[in-house]
Amino acid sequence: MTGIRELDMQHQQLFVFANALEEEIKKGATPATIKKAIGFMERYTVEHFQYEEMCMHGASCPETEMNKKAHAEFILELKRMDIKWDGGKGDQETLIQLHKFVEFWLDAHILKVDSKLKGCVAYTHDKTVKNSSVPDAIL
Ligand SMILES: [Fe+2]
Ligand SMILES: [Fe+2]
Repeated sequence: MTGIRELDMQHQQLFVFANALEEEIKKGATPATIKKAIGFMERYTVEHFQYEEMCMHGASCPETEMNKKAHAEFILELKRMDIKWDGGKGDQETLIQLHKFVEFWLDAHILKVDSKLKGCVAYTHDKTVKNSSVPDAIL
């Protein structure tokens, strides 16, 4: 979907986390389990975002800045929910909100922003191929 296998795999992993969170909610997870899940999601998304931003920048993608801004907003929202949970204000409703937010955000963001990378990667590759002295046949 993004033209970069590693990123697509990371996106798949993010959906696995989102689904796991939903399962925990259904089971009536303990605060400790949820805290762990949020923490894990935070750490994983930070790594994923950094890698993706580097790829977009490298491919001179016009969405690079927009992507960075959206990532920062996502992390902020995740932290906000984490703090709420930490402060003892989290309940089942907070968890449902968290799950909805993560799932909806991932769907919309990957579709509208991350997927733009594909065209940039193809263009960069095309330019590299055209400027290369290596015959097309062996590329
Ligand atoms: Fe992104
Ligand atoms: Fe992404």
